[in-house]
Amino acid sequence: MREEIKKYLAEVRESIAQSAEEAEAFRVRYLGRKGVLNDLFEDFKKVANEEKKVLGKELNDLKVQVQEKLDDFQAKFSRTESSRDESIDLTRPTGELPVGTRHPLSVVRREILDIFSRMGFAVADGPEIEDDWHVFSGLNFPDDHPARDMQDTFFVGTNPEMLLRTHTSSVQVRAMEKSQPPLRIVMPGRVYRNEAISARAHCQFHQIEGLYIDEGVSFADMKQTLMYFTREFFGKAKIRLRPSYFPFTEPSAEMDVYWGLQTEADHRITKGTGWLEIMGCGMVDPAVLSASSIDPERYTGFAFGMGIERIAMLRYQIDDLRMFFENDMRFLKQFERLV
Ligand code: DAH
Repeated sequence: MREEIKKYLAEVRESIAQSAEEAEAFRVRYLGRKGVLNDLFEDFKKVANEEKKVLGKELNDLKVQVQEKLDDFQAKFSRTESSRDESIDLTRPTGELPVGTRHPLSVVRREILDIFSRMGFAVADGPEIEDDWHVFSGLNFPDDHPARDMQDTFFVGTNPEMLLRTHTSSVQVRAMEKSQPPLRIVMPGRVYRNEAISARAHCQFHQIEGLYIDEGVSFADMKQTLMYFTREFFGKAKIRLRPSYFPFTEPSAEMDVYWGLQTEADHRITKGTGWLEIMGCGMVDPAVLSASSIDPERYTGFAFGMGIERIAMLRYQIDDLRMFFENDMRFLKQFERLV
């Protein structure tokens, strides 16, 4: 019997398998019900007790070798077989690919830009990290204007000249520096203010700025342009311009749209007045034109600025500003069809 075990040991060591089938044949030959090992263990029962110790060890050794060899074969073939499957069948259907959706702020921004582009406005942009000139001084903010205060503005490092823009009006200044009128542009972008985060305020939000400068541009042109926008965007045609103040426009106004008082929600969001404030606007102050080397004797213009979040909140009846920045899938999924 020892001779037999020796012979099988040698045979196992030299065994090779070229395919999964050959590996299986190896398994059956040695480990099958009527295989070599079962036979040997049967014979082992009949061996005299004093021989059992040595023989048992040798038999066990053979079994271990068989198992190791088989593990090798199986590892080899199960791996190549499955990778071959994947690389060859190019016609196999893939799993469903998840498709992303547009963020509601992008949807609203695009729609607003689209409406103005139909009136001939081009799109421009500028940097979010700005200098004092483009955000404040070039827009006629006096040195002691409260908007420059630390409470509103994020400064970059310790340099009081570098800051995160607090409004997109900064891009007006860049555009006027770069080109002479006629200028007809809309400028979307992110802005930053040092505010405590709540349902109604955030330290970052988005605005769209508008600027139109040419010879003979009047307040009536501004009113027509803004009326067209409100009608296209909200489907509402009644607006009003309330006198207001901005350092860079004169006269300045706040534009409200008549929202109506049909539903309970209308009462809530308009605080019972039926009117909603949509944007700030006005005729570009001659001092602003001069600061950017545009001749205020020859040119006039109007400007306006609105918050994208505010408009998106009105349109989709969202009552918490923080939703826009949390990337909660349950929120974003609701805008799936708005591409
Ligand atoms: N920059 C103003 C703000 O952030 C909005 C604004 C008001 C922009 C009047 C304008 C404008 O261009 O004419 O509150």
